[in-house]
Amino acid sequence: MSATITANAIPFIDLPAQFRSLKLEIDTALTPIFDSTGFILGPAVAEFEEAFAAYLNARHCVTLNSGTAALHLALLALDIGPGDEVITAANSFIATAEAISFAGATPRFVDADPVSYNLDASKLEAAITEKTRAIIPVHLFGQPADMDPILEIARKWNLKVIEDACQAHGATYRGARVGTFSDVACFSFYPGKNLGAAGDGGAIVTNNPDIAEKVRLIRDHGSRKKYQHEIIGHNFRLDTVQAAILNVKLPHLESWNAARRQHAEYYSRRLAGVKAVVTPATAPNCESVFHLYVVQVPNRDEVQQAMRDANIQTGIHYPVPIHLQAAYKGLGHRPGDFPVSEELAGKILSLPMYAELTEAQQDRVVEVLIKAVSGMGQ
Ligand SMILES: Cc1ncc(COP(=O)(O)O)c(C=O)c1O
Repeated sequence: MSATITANAIPFIDLPAQFRSLKLEIDTALTPIFDSTGFILGPAVAEFEEAFAAYLNARHCVTLNSGTAALHLALLALDIGPGDEVITAANSFIATAEAISFAGATPRFVDADPVSYNLDASKLEAAITEKTRAIIPVHLFGQPADMDPILEIARKWNLKVIEDACQAHGATYRGARVGTFSDVACFSFYPGKNLGAAGDGGAIVTNNPDIAEKVRLIRDHGSRKKYQHEIIGHNFRLDTVQAAILNVKLPHLESWNAARRQHAEYYSRRLAGVKAVVTPATAPNCESVFHLYVVQVPNRDEVQQAMRDANIQTGIHYPVPIHLQAAYKGLGHRPGDFPVSEELAGKILSLPMYAELTEAQQDRVVEVLIKAVSGMGQ
């Protein structure tokens, strides 16, 4: 291992660099909140909801305390519950399925498309039964799911659509931002997301005022007026402190996404012609925001170890598809049920990706990666 390789660690994501660049703005935004101690549903929350809805070109945004809560309340707002089935991707983060389960419904999975890694719309109709009520396409890794065929099938079968946009703040499909194509869309502001808080956070976005109102009610104990509870709700509110941080960060999102796209292009250019590495393909009419830059490599675990040895952090999103997770053994799935998702789980590797990533860092990632795959069919 050469000295240049071990000299500087390359993190998977560099949140300290992002916070350093925003420190003054964040301090200024937080001071009035601590001065007033308006920690719950203070003015920063409404300010962010308005700004995020405007950014997406949606009518309503209701903030929540996580993306998981957003998915859960989206389902409740659509009256989806026990006896219902909801179709989603086998290769998402488990929260997508958990929300379906916690709404009382049953998740039904569809395999991934081998090129876009998103839900394969050509396999969607085969998963529909008389119990199916909704589809949750996931805009995985920041790349929009193929919404046209999904929406067409949903219309044909009278199904609701909930976008899981937790990884895709600002991504566009046919020129419009994701989160605006469905009955209701869900976002996560987990710190590592393209738009992240300093803790957990989430939101639903919708053009339907009834859905917005219902989510608003449920997130705050079913209450519009203090100690008057119209329905049984939850405590799923976003903290004012998190909203203030999101207000600081939102104006930077476009430039951060542009930087991510530029880094993705640079990785793909440097890796072009390296046969052992499959680089991500952006589907036509889509603009990905590269929440993750995911390659496929043979012998993935060895490659990841080689990167680790060179002080380069990588990730695997996700090593076990949802249908094979212990939590979902009750659904009775077996290996082979969703072969594309299973094959991807064994080959995918997420490379360092964040707006502050430098070309020199990317050069080192690429060098180490090429060295690690050489001799494996390169
Ligand atoms: C695709 C997807 N769905 C849902 C979630 C859940 O979001 P949160 O972690 O904010 O609950 C995440 C976050 O990791 C995600 O990536």
